[in-house]
Order: sequence, then structure tokens, then C-alpha cells
Amino acid sequence: MSQTILVLGASGQIGSELIEKLRTIYGSTHVVASDIRNGSPSLMNSGPFEIIDATDKEAIFAIVKKYNVTQIYLLAAMLSATGEKFPQKAWDLNMTSLLAVLDLAKDKHINQVFWPSSIAVFGATSPKIHTPQKTIMEPSTVYGISKISGEFWCNYYHEKYGVDVRSLRYPGIISWKTKPGGGTTDYAVDIFFKALEQGSFECFLSEDTCLPMMYMEDAVHATVQIMQVNANQINIRTSYNLSAMNFTPKELASAIHQHLPNFTISYKPDYRQAIADSWPDSIDDTKAREDWGWSPNYTLSKMTKDILENLQAQ
Ligand code: SER
Repeated sequence: MSQTILVLGASGQIGSELIEKLRTIYGSTHVVASDIRNGSPSLMNSGPFEIIDATDKEAIFAIVKKYNVTQIYLLAAMLSATGEKFPQKAWDLNMTSLLAVLDLAKDKHINQVFWPSSIAVFGATSPKIHTPQKTIMEPSTVYGISKISGEFWCNYYHEKYGVDVRSLRYPGIISWKTKPGGGTTDYAVDIFFKALEQGSFECFLSEDTCLPMMYMEDAVHATVQIMQVNANQINIRTSYNLSAMNFTPKELASAIHQHLPNFTISYKPDYRQAIADSWPDSIDDTKAREDWGWSPNYTLSKMTKDILENLQAQ
């Protein structure tokens, strides 16, 4: 059966690049982009685009019927740092949108759902190094609470109603086409822009704060891959640990330094330091590798070279 996909939150950091990939694979007319705001001209002109508030179940349902949508990728969310400023809003957006989409799947209006979780499900009491798939999870942010709750809703809808929902615990995602907004790992994107524009960067995390990270190419690849494999390869219906690289601001600065010898970095940790300190340094993603063959392509040095070349060419 041919698929028609609806992406909610398509104008955001991950959505905008995922749309490009999905349109290449499934054909432009089979991939409906949607967001609460307009996206870039290339996103809006390369296939169907609809304005949808992801918390409005009826609005989502209307678009599902209009295009005969079979799969929804729900990428609309409020991230960790903004979530701490607007806890109620973060909870409402992140949970209402998920339950709306899961309900549409439960009622068989769509047959597959992708929903991202995050390393934010872990907290200060989780093992920090190679954090296992199953371990102590006591998140300290509203974002993390919404993600761990969402994971168990996904699992519940799968167990109880047979919903085919698939999920990944994304690490910090690094991109150069569209910037993220409101996350704790965002410094690792901003640093590239500031390095080229100003030759220097002030980091809101301390130099030795190690976090799990991933290049956008790998994140898109993992997302498409988990949605395409046979359902019998998916043994985890909460969310899969996913890993590619881990680095500190100091290590990232030194990778940039290889290409831009005059680049300088300074450190001024703010409230986001406590969030980062509660998250793992590295993630054990053995289950994703075993179950559906996950393997990343980008290391820190390969990613750094690729981003700087692309931004310089722009
Ligand atoms: N990148 C996200 C954030 O920093 C983590 O999932 O909030």
C-alpha cells in the first residue's frame, strides 16, 4: 500500500529536513507538510502545505481525510529550555498533540505514527556513561517529564489498541539549514554560525559539559529507517536509545579550530547548565542496532567539516 504522510511541526529544525527526505522517497504529493506557522519557501512550494495547530485534533483529522493520510510524524513540541519558562504550555503542547495523534491511530484513521522522545527522559540519578535503554529515569525538566509520559502513552496505545507507534530518544541534533529553538543542546548549532560570522562564541554551558549529539543527516536517516522496517523488528514501544557522538563545548571548539584557526570561545553558563548536568554524557543504543540495524555515519570531525563547508558555500 502506498503511504501518504503528514508531518506536524514541519517548519522546525528536524521537520524541515525530514520533509525534503520524505518527499524524495515517497513523492512530493504524498508528503503533507504542516505547522502552526509558515515554513521556508522551499518547504511550502515543494509539496502540499497546511497550517495546523498540533493540539487541535479536529484540524488534524480534517487534513488526514483531505489527503487520505496513512502516517503521521509528530514533530511539534516545546523543547527543554523554553519548557522551563512555560511549564504548563510545554506540557499542554507536548501531551495534547501526542494524544490527539495516538487517538487517530487507535480509531484506524491512520496506520503508523512517529513521535520523538529525547535524552531528557533521563535525570541526575540515571547512570551518566553509556546510559542503558532501561534504567532509573527521574527527569528534572518539564520537557523530560512530558517525554517520559509520552513514551508510556505510546507503549500503552500499542499494547492496548495495537497502535503502530515508533519512537527514538533523540540526542542533541545538529543542523545548519534550520536552527533549533529553545533547547539546551542548541549551543552546538549556534557555535557554527557565530564562528563564521564573528570568529568567536560565548557558550551558555561550561567547557567540560559532555552531551550526546547527532548530525541531522543521521537523525533523518534513523527516523526514516525506524518507520520503514517491519513491525516485528520493533521490540520497544516506549522509545529507542539512539547514539552517534558525544562531546563537550571544548571538544567542539577544538574541532572548529582545525578549520578556523582564529576562532575563540568563552564560557558563561546560565540556567541551562543545570539541565545539561542532569542529562547523560553518552548513550547505549545497542537495542536500536540489534533490532533494526541502526548505525550512524557522522563523527564529530566529519560533521564539523561538512557544516563549515556548507555554511561557507551559502
Ligand atoms: N535538544 C533537546 C533540547 O535540548 C533535547 O532533546 O531540549
